[in-house]
Amino acid sequence: MSSAFAARLPAAIAVARVLGEGSSLDICLQESVAGSDPARASAIRSLAFGAVRGYYRHEAILGRLSSQPVERLEPLVRALLSVALFELEDARTPAYAIVDAAVDAAKAGPAARAAGFVNAVLRRYLRERPAIDATVGRDAAARHAAPAWIAALLRADWPEQASTVLAALDSQAPMWLRVDARRTTADAYLLRLRDAGIGATVEPRVPYAVRLEEACDVRALPGFAEGLASVQDIGAQCAVVPLDLRPGLRVLDACAAPGGKTGLIAERETGLGELVAVDVDPKRLAKVGENAARGAFSARLIAADAADPGAWWDGRPFDRILLDAPCSGLGVIRRHPDIRLRKSLADLTKLHAVQGRLLRAAWSMLASGGRLVYATCTFTHRENRDVLARFLDTARDALVVPAQAWDGWPDLGAADPFGRQILPGEAGADGFYYAAITKR
Ligand SMILES: C[S@@+](CC[C@H](N)C(=O)[O-])C[C@H]1O[C@@H](n2cnc3c(N)ncnc32)[C@H](O)[C@@H]1O
Repeated sequence: MSSAFAARLPAAIAVARVLGEGSSLDICLQESVAGSDPARASAIRSLAFGAVRGYYRHEAILGRLSSQPVERLEPLVRALLSVALFELEDARTPAYAIVDAAVDAAKAGPAARAAGFVNAVLRRYLRERPAIDATVGRDAAARHAAPAWIAALLRADWPEQASTVLAALDSQAPMWLRVDARRTTADAYLLRLRDAGIGATVEPRVPYAVRLEEACDVRALPGFAEGLASVQDIGAQCAVVPLDLRPGLRVLDACAAPGGKTGLIAERETGLGELVAVDVDPKRLAKVGENAARGAFSARLIAADAADPGAWWDGRPFDRILLDAPCSGLGVIRRHPDIRLRKSLADLTKLHAVQGRLLRAAWSMLASGGRLVYATCTFTHRENRDVLARFLDTARDALVVPAQAWDGWPDLGAADPFGRQILPGEAGADGFYYAAITKR
């Protein structure tokens, strides 16, 4: 039995769990690949990711094929169809073999009753494919597999850039590295990569950022185990600029896990007075510890709710605070395509409230003359400028530090009244938002 054949049902089960339980695809895949050999595990992952990436395009296709409303289909049936549609798009296997295999996968699992339905829908698609693909292709949101609410938000918040961003969200994200500024430079590391047979380029606007020509296993990267390079999107690497780090400062990374930006801060200013990394999720915080061990930096780790300083803060103000707030993550959909399936418009309202609460709490821990950087990996106004506008309405001691005053900010991102928005795809970056506020 080929890896792909044996992979279809477990891949669909992982996707169905994302749909049914709202858990992340990574977590759902862990169970689906358990006990598989590497070839089968890789086939399961690739089918599940392909199905999730194309999910909303597949929904538009299925809407033209199924007599039942697509959203009422059982998650496993829906997932089996998405896996098959992804395989048809991928075109590595003959179309009729894909349909036969999808029907067999349905029969082999709890969706056996729906095998006839799966067969009928997919065969009809094969007959009517050119016309259906042409219709779906005319709708930019469906073509780029964006749920309607994300497409509508983009058109409302970023009307001029909406179609470029939709396309970017539907593309493969490059693999970016941050090289350790304490030990090397981007150019020197490029040579190490070249010796290891790995093609890469630098982005001159963001020092220490290296873009790999092709994603690779981190174990192949020279000095990775010793922290010489870390995987980090170029947009995330920009966080260090508005922070304006200096020797002797006490810095709080308020939502720190898994520690990508904690490591960035530690590498860029080695003379900090103290670096404190807080995260509410102890398991995720443990990753900060692992990254600190690999990257040879130290930070005081505190598993706590940053919105409740009374429970853990010793009362000594911080000179710099990075609040990399929990957000919808729409800016990193390229890397986590399941965000499309797991988030909804209603989440933005809840997140807006959480972000405001975290911002007010972080502000209470900032020293006078200190600076707080509010960051997210999303592009919605609701989670970015609206959070800041609301906060600034009441915080009389807060003053925006305009992006023009951020020393060393690369020529990236769109200005808004408070900060900068890097949109997904710009310079190969994920979507990030940054604003800096200082305390009078
Ligand atoms: C965007 S991620 C942070 C990414 C991290 N700064 C990095 O660069 O690797 C947001 C983090 O906020 C944490 N978080 C959510 N609510 C929190 C709270 N109330 N207090 C502290 N951390 C929180 C989440 O557990 C998550 O790890």
